[in-house]
Amino acid sequence: MKILGIETSCDETAASICVDGKILSSALSSQEIHSKFGGVIPELASREHEKTLNLIVHKALKESNLSLSDLDGIAVTQGPGLSGALITGTSFSKGLAVGLNIPIIGINHLEAHIFANFLAEPNLEFPFICLLVSGGHTQLWEIKNFMSYNLLGETRDDAAGEAFDKGARVLGLGYPGGPEIEILARKGNHQLVDFPRALLSKNNFEFSFSGLKTALLYYYEKNKDKRIEDIAASYQFAIIDVLVKKLKDAAEFTNSNNCVVAGGVAANQFLRLHSKKQMPQRNIIYPHPSFCTDNAAMIAFLGEKYLSIGKKSEIGFSILPNMRIK
Ligand code: KG4
Ligand code: ZN
Repeated sequence: MKILGIETSCDETAASICVDGKILSSALSSQEIHSKFGGVIPELASREHEKTLNLIVHKALKESNLSLSDLDGIAVTQGPGLSGALITGTSFSKGLAVGLNIPIIGINHLEAHIFANFLAEPNLEFPFICLLVSGGHTQLWEIKNFMSYNLLGETRDDAAGEAFDKGARVLGLGYPGGPEIEILARKGNHQLVDFPRALLSKNNFEFSFSGLKTALLYYYEKNKDKRIEDIAASYQFAIIDVLVKKLKDAAEFTNSNNCVVAGGVAANQFLRLHSKKQMPQRNIIYPHPSFCTDNAAMIAFLGEKYLSIGKKSEIGFSILPNMRIK
């Protein structure tokens, strides 16, 4: 099938074409406008999607040598995400689907992040463990099969990406904070500060990062003379150490050899190195960094999986800003 995927849940406007499980194009426009505010401004995000969406869809089509009339279906992010941003993407997609008289399916953005791993490793086999680490979510999943998922645990407060973003703000860095902290941390000593790690008892798959951010705030206020690179490296290590320990625990608990890491934080190179070092006997898969952060390829890919077995949404379907994986 020839599927157009559309993603507008936050601040990336993205479109992609997936044909028979292969991504032919993945076009994306990152909204730079938010960086000066230190975070995403929802109203501005919707307006930017509105301005850019048509252009991005045509870019994706052109790069695939296809035209609108070639499409067999449309997949669009239904949630979770910012309401206005989701409405912009779904309304645009519904209009296209009606105009072209083709089916449309609303896709769960988080489920799509998990399935982005098949783009990295087409031979990935069920079951596998997925550590999903994005700006809004930190969850550990046991993925038994397509449409059969078991949530092992999730964060009680901040997500891992949020911990990076809030930490970066404390240190006076830009948004998004993950890449900023990672770049500084490369030149730092991660053993300078022993920041707290929460909920580390065996087989506890819940996370908590809000105390870590507060610890950074107190430390930084009292230690302005210390190298910021060392502080950033220690802070990054505290987040990643917890993520890797829990992933390792989950793999042992479920006796899973295959582990995948998805979501924006999966782009972090230190996380990749540390997990491979701590779990040498497991097969750990990371999507290409461009498929870790928000993109439409993962939406098109998962959309095709659903549409090809006859699943579709009613044209009046609503956005779900707090959508969860069932
Ligand atoms: O998946 P994503 O692009 O959007 C959401 O669905 O939330 O994730 C964005 C999050 C942000 O918090 C950002 O700081 C974090 O992913 N992130 C990173 C890196 N690149 C993006 N965190 C750590 N290291 C990175 N290299
Ligand atoms: Zn995302």
